[in-house]
Amino acid sequence: MVEEQLPIQEKGRRAKNESMRVKPQRLTELSLKPVSRVLSGIAELDRVLGGGIVPGSLLLLGGEPGIGKSTLLLQVCNRLVQNGGKVLYVSGEESAEQVRLRAERLGSIMPDLFVLCAVDLDDIIAAVEEIKPEFLVVDSIQTLVSSTLSSAPGSVAQVRECTAELLRLAKNNRLTVFVIGHVTKFGAIAGPKTLEHMVDAVLYFEGEPSLNYRIVRTVKNRYGPTNEIGVFEMSEAGLIEVANPSEFFLSGRRSDVSGSAVVVTLEGSRPMLVEIQALATPTPFPLPQRVATGFDLRRLALLLGILERRASINGGRRDIFLNVAGGLKLTEPAIDLGVIAALASAIRNTPLPADTVMIGEVGLAGEVRSVTRTEARLKEVARLGFKRAVVPLRSPKMNKSNLRVVPVDTIGGALKVLGVKK
Ligand SMILES: Nc1ncnc2c1ncn2[C@@H]1O[C@H](COP(=O)(O)OP(=O)(O)OP(=O)(O)O)[C@@H](O)[C@H]1O
Ligand SMILES: [Mg+2]
Repeated sequence: MVEEQLPIQEKGRRAKNESMRVKPQRLTELSLKPVSRVLSGIAELDRVLGGGIVPGSLLLLGGEPGIGKSTLLLQVCNRLVQNGGKVLYVSGEESAEQVRLRAERLGSIMPDLFVLCAVDLDDIIAAVEEIKPEFLVVDSIQTLVSSTLSSAPGSVAQVRECTAELLRLAKNNRLTVFVIGHVTKFGAIAGPKTLEHMVDAVLYFEGEPSLNYRIVRTVKNRYGPTNEIGVFEMSEAGLIEVANPSEFFLSGRRSDVSGSAVVVTLEGSRPMLVEIQALATPTPFPLPQRVATGFDLRRLALLLGILERRASINGGRRDIFLNVAGGLKLTEPAIDLGVIAALASAIRNTPLPADTVMIGEVGLAGEVRSVTRTEARLKEVARLGFKRAVVPLRSPKMNKSNLRVVPVDTIGGALKVLGVKK
């Protein structure tokens, strides 16, 4: 529990003149100015935002400390300035020299990029009024303080008040504001969920600590679709867009060998393509081994049983190994069909089609059951360039020009489609 002190306000309804009142208007009477989006110059980010930045919007970029939030936004600033924009970068965490050092490392220093090292909201508002930038970057919201409140920076009240003030600034001046927010160890942006409803778009920056790739994901967007992801690679010269992320998720995959299947799993709200590998080797011992890495061993035994009984593919006297590539742990039932396919492929020693992805839960009767958010998964499959998806029969209809969706109702049918079973 955190005590929150509200700014003192006059209570009661103020008497307003009739002329001062805001009046309701007919929607049809409003004159429309066409909204033209501004391209950030980073294609992956523009796509995540739904085709560019909407001028006058407030965007929140969240992420764990050190993931590369400042880097990404500084790169965006550079591109915006290159395209003739005027940008003010406010840093409450680093000195101007540090920002300059990073800008040099990222390879471009622009004259129209202004840097302000301040934490006081009044300083920022004054700077905006003086320079009149089109874009404002605040790094980070947790460092800002509003003088109307006495609570510490980063507290719920401060974060909320500062965001509200920035929102006012954005809407009044048609200023686009990027706000950086740190994700705390509790997994929410600090002060955080308090911010999401106020801003126009919420982007999360995620990454695998051991790998160099980073993912930007929209969880909210008032001007575009959500659940789009953009993939970047962190390098010395900053973040480099990854045009084909499947190479990263499925790096090192050999599709010409048996036992390799690609499945779609939902990581939080993000669909992700992962490779499942299976190996079946004959054993002289009476009790064959069953080994699973990143997958539940009992579920493996169950799926082997279903495969044997419902599709007549027998594990028999073989050691069976199952591995989820990339060190991930998968628990979602939607990957069952992929596991079944990988196992059947390994047992029959027949490679699966390289461009096909499998989606579906498998029941004890060998039926393929529908899974949640098939559409989001298929969207990801299509985006990553796969040509065919084997899905449960009762899935929402989905027509993508370059993705063929093959509905199946049993594992036997699925294995026939995949060419493992006659
Ligand atoms: N010279 C370099 N070469 C390669 N990568 C670098 C280099 N310098 C920094 N990085 C990477 O940049 C990332 C940190 O970037 P950045 O400072 O933008 O993160 P941040 O999210 O803003 O962090 P903070 O939470 O501290 O503000 C780290 O992942 C680091 O590995
Ligand atoms: Mg930073």
